[in-house]
Amino acid sequence: MSTHSFVLNGKPVSVDCPDDVRLLWVLRDLLGVTGPKYGCGLEVCKACTCHINGKAFNPCAVPVSDIQSTDEVTTIEGLPATVGKDLHPMQEAWLDVDVAQCGYCQPGQIMAAVALVNEAKAAGRSVSDADLDGLRNVCRCGTYPRIRKAIEAAAAQM
Ligand code: FES
Ligand code: FES
Repeated sequence: MSTHSFVLNGKPVSVDCPDDVRLLWVLRDLLGVTGPKYGCGLEVCKACTCHINGKAFNPCAVPVSDIQSTDEVTTIEGLPATVGKDLHPMQEAWLDVDVAQCGYCQPGQIMAAVALVNEAKAAGRSVSDADLDGLRNVCRCGTYPRIRKAIEAAAAQM
């Protein structure tokens, strides 16, 4: 058992658990942050997508011992605060387009979409169709057309 510390949604957190516990279970079971969903545990479905230091990653595949004390982990719960609003523009667009069906994949979809748009903007370009094709988050309800529409709408506001 070791103590693991990092920054979660802007606040320092510490947990005591074995080194090999995956970060997704630290978030969900030890810290009660349940926005990141469990789908596969194999870095395939992307339902657990969060950000680490602003980049998308999958905490189901990361042992907590790989996280440094200075690492900033952001989940869907902390996303609005990254822009100082009640909702992030991506979440506003999601509501405008009425993307969600069952909702299970949606936190991961939104986190992946925000990272994608931020990455494109940092590179000085717009999100392209190829970028959208590269998103690998699985949606069992087939909301993909609405996801694309929402990302395009949000990108104009980000
Ligand atoms: S649960 Fe993390 S990628 Fe599927
Ligand atoms: S909205 Fe149901 S899995 Fe995506």
